[in-house]
Amino acid sequence: MKFAILGSGTGTNAEAILRAWRDGRLGNACPVAVFCDIAGARILSLGEKYGVPARFLDPGKFRTKFSPEREVAYVEEIKNAGAEFVVLAGFMRVLKTPFLEAFPGKIINLHPSLLPAFPGLDGIGQAWRYGVAVSGCTVHYVDASVDGGAIIDQAVVRREKNDTQETFAQKIHDAEHVILPDVIRRISLGEA
Ligand code: GAR
Repeated sequence: MKFAILGSGTGTNAEAILRAWRDGRLGNACPVAVFCDIAGARILSLGEKYGVPARFLDPGKFRTKFSPEREVAYVEEIKNAGAEFVVLAGFMRVLKTPFLEAFPGKIINLHPSLLPAFPGLDGIGQAWRYGVAVSGCTVHYVDASVDGGAIIDQAVVRREKNDTQETFAQKIHDAEHVILPDVIRRISLGEA
């Protein structure tokens, strides 16, 4: 299962995926490209480190979606890279028809809350401010809704008395780094 990783920033989840692949823990899944919508983002440095092409692709003039022609260009680049599957690992843009029609049922997203609670931006901050006792992370298929597609897996993180928002966030990120590679492995083996 050849897949592309799309990310927007630090790329710790992309790195967890690439490390799992390097260590032989990704089943039949093989990353063929990393694409990023922010020029100079750290995620782009992972390409060289793991031997997978990583490139900035201009998303167009909007902040939370693509311009229509750039969305088509993204799809073309992903297909040209040989990918049949797309993993959104911290990608901060909503995908529309060009993506959904090009990769039907073959796009997954990672979100830092227990969906359907706290969709959208800053899932960790939303949960923290609400005062939840537990939150976590979700991997789900992407459909036309925002963070509303079918859930594949979730991990629960408890908010302890001595947690700060930063320590709570770190625990959620640690959980993300485990479940996202594991879901990719299971999908590639037909187990999810
Ligand atoms: C992750 O926490 C991911 O769940 C979140 O962005 C972060 C990316 O971190 N994604 C979203 O909020 C999507 N709506 P990373 O760049 O270090 O992997």
